Amino acid sequence: MDDILKFLDKIEQEAITALGQSADKAAVDAILVSYLGRKGKLADISKGMGQVAPETRPQVGARLNQLKTKLTDSAEKRLNDLTVSGAADQSFDYSLPGRRRLVGRKHPLLQTVDEIVRIFRGMGFSVASGPDIETDFYNFDALNTPEDHPARDLSDTFYIEKGVLLRTHTSTVQIRTMQSKKPPVRVIAPGRCYRSDAFDASHSPVFYQCEGLFVDNGVTFGDMKGAIITFAKELFGPRIKVRFRPHFFPFTEPSAEYDFSCILCGGKGCRVCKYNGWLEISGAGMVDPEVFKAVGYDPEIYTGYAFGMGVDRITMLRYRIGDIRLLYDNDIRFLRQF
Ligand code: DAH
Repeated sequence: MDDILKFLDKIEQEAITALGQSADKAAVDAILVSYLGRKGKLADISKGMGQVAPETRPQVGARLNQLKTKLTDSAEKRLNDLTVSGAADQSFDYSLPGRRRLVGRKHPLLQTVDEIVRIFRGMGFSVASGPDIETDFYNFDALNTPEDHPARDLSDTFYIEKGVLLRTHTSTVQIRTMQSKKPPVRVIAPGRCYRSDAFDASHSPVFYQCEGLFVDNGVTFGDMKGAIITFAKELFGPRIKVRFRPHFFPFTEPSAEYDFSCILCGGKGCRVCKYNGWLEISGAGMVDPEVFKAVGYDPEIYTGYAFGMGVDRITMLRYRIGDIRLLYDNDIRFLRQF
């Protein structure tokens, strides 16, 4: 009887050692089968119980049961250890880097639009919009653009049919806003514009503008300069300078073009500003009385300023992008950098 108990002690030690050395779930299972399985070592002993003296059988039986529980518990513990260390299931490599989820975000152009809107909101402007497909009334006539103006040319404007076109600027929204509302009017209108330009590093047949319009009693050219300078400093920092040059637009009088000092070289001159220190942004001016007449505002009572803004240009400066085509290719390798 001592012999059989000693034998069981030996089996227990053997099995526990084997379990402790097992490297994966398959090995643990194999050990359990070889000890506890139908043809396993413990089964053999159970079968030999007939030869054990009847008075010691209960003791041997109890020991066998205890051994079964011990081995099962110890196998479970081993499996647990292997899982924690990542070795239990060989088909899964816990050391592999996780699969990254692509999270969408706004296009850099729209991030710039958001920023422009945020800054002008702070100056009391609200956002207005108009359709991309326009009539020549909104795009040209109401904006005091003469019949023979070169911008109306087929080679500059995409016409859908006679009198219907893809807007060439967001100035159309000035007209729509003033038609729908009495002064005071203070809006910005970001949006897509179209011109029949070929793609190159600085041109795209589709591009973004942001229009600004402020009409009230006694609005001055100085107010316009103040708004644009405030915008420039808010967007590019306090050191930026803004310069206004006399220009002509049919819808403003007087008109100006405005430039920002080159944000890349600080105005010293570099490749981006073509060594003159300034970057052209767009045009601005005092709303022409003819435009007020077209929308039914009395030019004797109201004055106003308007300005345009090239959103692509500003985006390219903000993020130092050297080619406008990158903004329209929609290459994910480019877009995920923003
Ligand atoms: N619409 C002009 C363009 O596309 C930009 C512009 C100039 C807008 C002067 C204005 C303005 O509102 O007053 O080039």
